[in-house]
Amino acid sequence: MTTVTMIVNGQSVSKDVEDRTLLVDLLRNDLRLTGTHVGCDTSQCGACVVHVNGDAVKSCTMFAVEAEGANVATIEGQAAADGTLNRIQQAFQDHHGLQCGFCTPGMVMSASALLKENPKPTEVEIRDYLEGNICRCTGYHNIVKAIFAASGQDVSAIAAE
Ligand code: FES
Ligand code: FES
Repeated sequence: MTTVTMIVNGQSVSKDVEDRTLLVDLLRNDLRLTGTHVGCDTSQCGACVVHVNGDAVKSCTMFAVEAEGANVATIEGQAAADGTLNRIQQAFQDHHGLQCGFCTPGMVMSASALLKENPKPTEVEIRDYLEGNICRCTGYHNIVKAIFAASGQDVSAIAAE
């Protein structure tokens, strides 16, 4: 076992983990942050996306020990303490960007990383960025709309479905 220490959603956490423990398993099983989902075993679905030192990372592709000393953000840390949704979460709600919700945490975390590096993405840029996020309900159009709206752009510019 190795002791791993990191900041998760602003709180310092320290856990003893096996070296083979994935970051997603540390988050879900040890820290009970179950908003980060596991939707595949092939690193393809993006349901497990979190931020590590500000970058979007598929947490099923990283060992927990690799996050030693890192600053990790998960979906649980996105809303304000009083429950007020952040602008991306609110836009998903306003534009019906979720159906079953399984992919949503990963979509929101990916969208957040996209808007940080590209604050006014085009529809095509949003679709390209989400290539690594699968929505099994196939609600992509409204997800793209929601991200476009969260960027402050007029969704009437988005092509009809
Ligand atoms: Fe990580 Fe699917 S669970 S990409
Ligand atoms: Fe169901 Fe995307 S909303 S998987």
